[in-house]
Amino acid sequence: NFEKVWLGAALLLIVGFIATIAYGTVGVGIQMVDDSGGEIDPQAVQQSNTGTGFDDPGVVRQNDSHYVVYVVAQQFQFAPGTGDNPIRVPADTRVTFRVTSADVVHGFSIVETNINTMVIPGQVSEVTAEFDEPGTYGLVCHEYCGSGHHTMGGSVEVV
Ligand code: CUA
Repeated sequence: NFEKVWLGAALLLIVGFIATIAYGTVGVGIQMVDDSGGEIDPQAVQQSNTGTGFDDPGVVRQNDSHYVVYVVAQQFQFAPGTGDNPIRVPADTRVTFRVTSADVVHGFSIVETNINTMVIPGQVSEVTAEFDEPGTYGLVCHEYCGSGHHTMGGSVEVV
């Protein structure tokens, strides 16, 4: 009878919606990495990952052409990044940003570039870029993270 047909159709739709959401979450390539290759405890990233750079966030030179920047996001600042503590990197080098959050989900977006990632507590978001043009680039949090979200930003100085 018709009721069963409509019930079936509705169920199919729901399954379809869930599949779409699942695909959007897992299938789109936001890269989450950590050194052990798995998910890590929310607070652990900051507190006990000795040697990864999150204990003392900042710019770490790997060699002349590659720098790694460890950034901790938390309500409502980036460290480094915000205020009188800008991220300072050289132009024409490979710059890998490794960003984690100490509290809630934040965003990490550098204006005028395609650097744009979510920052999730307990995980490390990694993006690599190269800045051809020296200058000061705006850094903004683009995920709503609380009452001060609109003030959360900073700068990247490419020298
Ligand atoms: Cu941090 Cu919005």
